[in-house]
Amino acid sequence: EKGGYDTFMEKEIHEQPHAVGDTLLGRTDEAGHLVLDELRISEEQLKAVDRITIVACGTAAYAGMVAKYAIEHWTRIPVEVALAHEFRYCDPIVSERTLVVSISQSGETMDTLMAVKHARDLGALTVSVCNTHGSTIPRESDAVLYTHAGPEIAVASTKAFLAQITACYVLGLYLAQLRGGSYADDAHAVLKELQEVPDKIEKLLGDLDRVREIARFMADTRSVLFLGRHVGYPVAMEGALKLKELAYIHAEGFAAGELKHGPIALIEPGQPVFIVVPGPDTPHGLHGKVVSNIQEIRARGARTLVIAQEGDTAVEPFADEILRVPATSPMLAPLLTVVPLQVFALELSTAKGLDVDQPRNLAKSVTVE
Ligand code: M6R
Repeated sequence: EKGGYDTFMEKEIHEQPHAVGDTLLGRTDEAGHLVLDELRISEEQLKAVDRITIVACGTAAYAGMVAKYAIEHWTRIPVEVALAHEFRYCDPIVSERTLVVSISQSGETMDTLMAVKHARDLGALTVSVCNTHGSTIPRESDAVLYTHAGPEIAVASTKAFLAQITACYVLGLYLAQLRGGSYADDAHAVLKELQEVPDKIEKLLGDLDRVREIARFMADTRSVLFLGRHVGYPVAMEGALKLKELAYIHAEGFAAGELKHGPIALIEPGQPVFIVVPGPDTPHGLHGKVVSNIQEIRARGARTLVIAQEGDTAVEPFADEILRVPATSPMLAPLLTVVPLQVFALELSTAKGLDVDQPRNLAKSVTVE
């Protein structure tokens, strides 16, 4: 049942090219335009949307954070991400023109379900991004966009995360397509690139020996920090969450720009820090800014574990280790940059002799508030 792998998590990590590919499958026409009749929300209603709120918990909320950057950029519709358990109690501002997108692998997370019900009661339009057919959250929503990751057994989410991000891209690109003009043209180009991502993940998966080795030598590590910026910020958060869940190691993810506002005080000689580097063509010179961050923490003794695109030579002088990922456009990078972090957590958990698939104190689906 584990398909020759030692754990479900490892199997599921290797299923990620399919999770992304299958989530895209059947959602385009022959001309390469998105067709989402399955949503059963009229184009008029979707065109009227003037605000999007994403509600989710844990890893799904990090998928939502990635989606915020992408959807705002592609559509210019404001997107807010709310932890589902906070949303209900913060007197949320929604109207019938608000699209509330819930993200949930299981479709049974109580916090997310209650957030959806609350949004619906307030008159919002609700869409569920969900991996489990027939589960409660899609039933309680106006529409559903299924992720096609297949059943996820390991408690720590991996392939569902990639599928959630993919489904949110599809939704964002579809809204851009509906806006027409240059929005639609840009969406068309991004979609083409997105379709190339599964092969890139496949290639990356064949190329992760070094991260496994690094993890094996870190079984005694007490703390690991993760830095990212732009869409790399939620990836850093997800890398930290995976490590907490699987290896019971203190881990924190930061926005790299926040470093000098406090967290840099944590840097001492030997402190391992993963840095998720944006691709060199990321707008606003963000690549260079993150390279400077690497330089700053290295000068204070950090052990820098750098995740960078193939061909990015600027990171080389400041990296103790470089983990390469295939190049893609800036918004799509999380589908690649998170993979070494998943494998790192898996390997470190294994090196510590822990139960990878069933970490202590956790349940696959949290059905109580
Ligand atoms: O089933 P859901 O996607 O609603 O679950 C949400 C979170 O509980 C889940 O992502 C959790 O954070 C995972 N253990 C992460 O690995």
